[in-house]
Parts: sequence; structure tokens; C-alpha cells
Amino acid sequence: MMIKKMNKGFTLTSLFLACCLANSAMAASETESRNEVYKDRFKNQYNSWHQTSESDQIVDALAEDPNLVILWAGYGFAKDYNKARGHIYAVTDLRNTLRTGAPMTATEGPMPMACWSCKSPDVPRMIEEQGEDGYFKGKWAKGGDQIVNSIGCGDCHEKGSPKLRISRPYAERAFEAIDTPFDEASRKDKQSMVCGQCHVEYYFEKTPDQKGYVKFPWDNGTTAEQMEAYYDAIEFTDWTHQLSKTPMLKAQHPGYETWKLGVHGKNNVSCTDCHMPKVTNDKGRKFTDHKVGNPFDRFEETCGSCHVQDKAFLEGITKDRQQKVKQLQLDAEQQLVKAHFEAAAAWEAGATEAEMKPILTDIRHSQWRWDYAIASHGVAAHAPEEALRVLGTSLNKAADARVKLAQLLATKGVKQPIAMPDVSTKAKAQAVLGMNMEKMNADKKKFIEEVVPVWEQSALEREAKQ
Ligand code: HEC
Ligand code: HEC
Ligand code: HEC
Ligand code: HEC
Repeated sequence: MMIKKMNKGFTLTSLFLACCLANSAMAASETESRNEVYKDRFKNQYNSWHQTSESDQIVDALAEDPNLVILWAGYGFAKDYNKARGHIYAVTDLRNTLRTGAPMTATEGPMPMACWSCKSPDVPRMIEEQGEDGYFKGKWAKGGDQIVNSIGCGDCHEKGSPKLRISRPYAERAFEAIDTPFDEASRKDKQSMVCGQCHVEYYFEKTPDQKGYVKFPWDNGTTAEQMEAYYDAIEFTDWTHQLSKTPMLKAQHPGYETWKLGVHGKNNVSCTDCHMPKVTNDKGRKFTDHKVGNPFDRFEETCGSCHVQDKAFLEGITKDRQQKVKQLQLDAEQQLVKAHFEAAAAWEAGATEAEMKPILTDIRHSQWRWDYAIASHGVAAHAPEEALRVLGTSLNKAADARVKLAQLLATKGVKQPIAMPDVSTKAKAQAVLGMNMEKMNADKKKFIEEVVPVWEQSALEREAKQ
């Protein structure tokens, strides 16, 4: 096969050439982005990777919890937000979400190229071919016919090899910033770091030429407070809240950061110990199960490989923790939703920028902490105390904001409590914000029917020449 031939033909000359090319703008790629290429060569790994397709449920997080629509008012997440599912769906789900809009041309917005960054091994392929400058330049739609293979082999492995790698230069830089360069990391560390390329907090850095590089805000450290201080120092905001006008932060999914703070992370139990265990196939051969999913589906090989307790017991503990985190999450949300509406009322009553500033700072910090805790998926299993601790500080900051708001509203002569609109369903909450969902859905449908097939056809033609 192609890869074997390449390995055989690997000489000093080609090594020399590869080095030279890597320095030029149009380099040959060191990434095999097509997962199917490994179908026969690494059968067990490929087949189990493909089984991530079994986790196919789409769960509408906004319908489950309409508070989210209000908390993200004015930002893409208020349009559409589904819970995570199998890795194999990452590209499909990004195309389908209303957040990426319906760009009919390669230069239309709303999202930047950076949006593709944790979805596909075509991302490192493009970065190697065009440099980060080339990759990050332009709108999301520019990458449509390039980024077509879902999260796979090339994201975590060197080309044609089981050797683990960090495939994104910005992730490499971030690990260096926290003094854990990948090259010097232990095998165990590497097993978690490959996940930490994507399951982390990041933002789109505004460079002078506005390309929007991905950066992890880790320069001061990786706790909620350290990242908050980082963002404050550079005055970064993801968006301005539609109701309260707060300069907001949107947490991504700081799973790696929160895992480190839990008892397993502290004992260096790696992501793969629980999500990609070593298993035995029917011929008695050991391999790594690449069906990344719920560890309780393979209890004996995951938790059971270290713990003597049975599945029902450990699953019970996990469920209990998930419920406790959920309860505090909802408590914080209720306070924040009210704070956003009360802040809107204060603006309406003529509050000044100076009067609002300390209040908006409290709201910003409260919601960042709430989001940090809940957006790090699996946090109730990974680091329940940290999730509860951070949610506690979120509640506290929301309370600070609301006390200040009550005082300010009183000085403006506003009757309290102010009336809260009905936001008890996703549709009602979106209507309160004046969002035209019908149009967004119709535009999206057109985009999926007309643009996506063209992207796929063009990618097939390109890959056929690879
Ligand atoms: C999300 C990261 C990730 C992805 C995606 C991934 N792997 Fe792996 N792979 C790993 C990890 C982690 C190991 C275990 C490394 C160790 O034991 O230290 C591994 C191990 C392997 C091994 C070594 C033998 C074994 O089973 O332990 C092979 C071969 C392999 N993977 C092939 C593939 C192929 C083929 C694909 C794509 C179909 C793929 N991997 C996708 C992370 C990944
Ligand atoms: C290239 C980026 C990337 C890498 C590397 C990566 N993930 Fe993911 N992961 C994602 C994205 C994106 C999703 C959501 C996919 C969707 O919903 O379409 C996801 C989803 C998941 C889910 C939810 C699966 C389900 O069925 O509900 C788990 C669990 C997970 N990842 C764990 C891991 C672990 C463990 C590793 C390392 C071995 C890892 N991921 C490596 C990007 C990545
Ligand atoms: C590679 C080994 C390993 C695996 C796999 C593992 N654990 Fe643990 N677990 C530990 C270690 C080490 C501790 C720290 C306490 C100790 O020394 O016993 C621990 C502690 C715990 C504790 C008690 C500490 C606490 O309050 O959180 C629970 C509960 C637990 N693990 C649940 C699980 C579950 C559930 C799974 C599977 C999803 C799992 N573990 C997988 C090694 C492991
Ligand atoms: C000790 C075992 C253990 C370790 C180590 C671990 N996880 Fe998990 N993870 C779990 C359990 C248990 C769940 C909850 C499963 C459930 O109830 O759906 C979970 C949930 C998740 C989820 C959410 C899945 C979903 O669909 O909501 C993601 C994503 C995830 N883990 C990624 C990671 C990453 C990345 C790492 C390493 C940085 C990691 N995990 C380390 C046990 C572990």
C-alpha cells in the first residue's frame, strides 16, 4: 500500500528534502488525513474508531435547559447547541449547526477558519501545507472543501505509524507554556495530551492582521481564576451580551484542565485509561480500543482494571456526583438569568457606564466560572469537587452583581422585583430575544442541500490525486 512504499523509499535525501520543504510556505504534508487508508493495516484500531458512529444521538441542550438561551443571548450558542456525540460526527455536526450559518460562498461569514480546528486531521494537513498564516486566513466556508475527514488517526498519530503526536502547532506551544513539552512527556502524559489538543479552553486570538489564531489562555496557569485573570489582562471578550451588555467570555471545554485537578488526574490516570482501554480481540490479541465514549460501557477494562468495587457501585457514585453538579449549575443559572434582565432594566432606567462597570464585571466573572465548570464535559466524573467549588464562586459573584443591581435600580426609582419574561422553553426564550429561527433554519437547509455536496465532490477529486 501507499504508506508502506513511502516508508521503504525513505532515504536521507527524502529526509533532507522534507526538512527544506517544511520551511517553505507550500510544504508537503506530514499528515494522512484519510482514516480509510488504515482500514486494513490497523484493522482493530480502525474498526473500533469507526464504532464511535454508534454514539449517534443528538441531544438538544437548549431544549433541555432554556436558561442557556438567555445566558448566551446575542451569541451563536443561543441559536443551537447540541451535546457532544461520537468523534466520527464532528465535521457533520459543525456543518449542520446553526452557529456556522449558511455561507453560500467561500468568503461569507459568520465564522472564521479557526472554527474547524478541533474537528479533523485535515486541519494539521492544511497547516503543514500552508502554514498557520494560510490556514487561519479567511472565513469558515473557505475550508469547506478541504476539511472533510472527521477526527481520526492523523489527529493523534504520526503518518503511517502508531506513534502519538501533537498535530497542532498552537497546542504544542500551549503545552510548552505550562512546562510540559510533548517531546519530554512520559508515555502516560502523552496519552492525555493527545486529547488535550481539543478538550481544552481556547480562544481566537486577534492578531494585528485579524486572522484569528487559536490560542490556549494558559500563560498564567490553567485554573478558572488563572484563565480569567489572563482574559481580563488582555481585555478579551467573545461577545457583548444582548441584554446586560456585559463583555462576556464563552468557555469552550476545559476538560484537560479540570481532569488535572481531580483525583485521577493527580494520580496520572490518563484519559485513555478510562476512554480508550487496552482490550483483547477474538484472536487473543491486545489492542487499544479506539471507540472513545462512555467508560462504563467497558467497565472491566476501564474502572475495573484498577478498582475492586463493582460497576453498579461506581456508576452510582458518578451519577450522584452528576446530579449534585447539575443542581448547583441550575442554581447559578437562575441567578445569572435574573442578573442579565435586571442589568437590562438598569440600562433602560438610564444607568451610566460607570455605574454599570462593577456590576458587569461580576456578571462576566460569574458566567465565566459557571461555563468553565459545566462546559468541561464529564467534569462531574473527572473533578467533582472542583466543579462544585467553581460553581460556588459563580453563585457568589452573581449574588454580588444582584445586590449592586438592586441598589442601583432603587436609586433610579425602578420598582422591584422587575418583571421576568417567560423563558421556560427554548422557543419562548429565543422569541424573547427576537431571534428569527424560521429564517435561520431555512437558510441552513438550503446551505446543506446546495453547498455541502459541492464541498464533498471537490474534496473527493482532490483526494483522488493524493
Ligand atoms: C484521539 C486520539 C487517537 C485517535 C483519533 C486515534 N488514535 Fe490510535 N492510539 C491512540 C492512543 C492514546 C493509543 C495508545 C498509545 C499508548 O498505548 O501509549 C493509540 C494506539 C494506536 C496503535 C498502537 C497499537 C494499539 O492498539 O495500542 C495503533 C496501530 C493505532 N493507534 C492506530 C490508529 C488508527 C489507524 C487510527 C484511525 C483510524 C487511530 N489510531 C486514531 C490515540 C488515538
Ligand atoms: C481533534 C480534536 C479532538 C481530539 C484529539 C479528541 N477529541 Fe474528543 N471530541 C472532540 C469533538 C469535536 C467532540 C464532539 C463531536 C460531536 O459531537 O460532533 C468530541 C467528543 C468526545 C466525547 C463524547 C463522545 C460521545 O459519544 O458522547 C468523548 C468522551 C471524548 N471526545 C473524549 C476524548 C478523549 C478521551 C480523547 C483523547 C483520547 C479525545 N476525545 C480526543 C474533539 C476531539
Ligand atoms: C488506572 C487506574 C484507575 C482507573 C482506570 C480508574 N481509577 Fe478511580 N482511582 C484510581 C486512583 C489511583 C484513585 C485515588 C485513590 C486511591 O489511591 O485509591 C482513584 C480514586 C477513585 C475514587 C475515589 C476518589 C474520589 O472521591 O473520586 C472513585 C469514586 C473512583 N476512583 C472512580 C473511578 C471510576 C468510576 C472509574 C472508571 C470510569 C475509575 N475510577 C477508573 C485509579 C483508577
Ligand atoms: C477515571 C476515569 C476517567 C478519566 C481518567 C477521564 N475520564 Fe472522561 N469521563 C469519565 C466518566 C465516568 C465520564 C462520564 C460518562 C457518562 O456518564 O456519560 C466521562 C465523561 C467525559 C466526557 C463527556 C462525554 C459526554 O458525552 O458528555 C468527555 C468529553 C471526557 N470524559 C473526556 C475526557 C478527557 C479529555 C480526559 C483526559 C483529560 C478524560 N475524559 C479522563 C471517566 C474518565
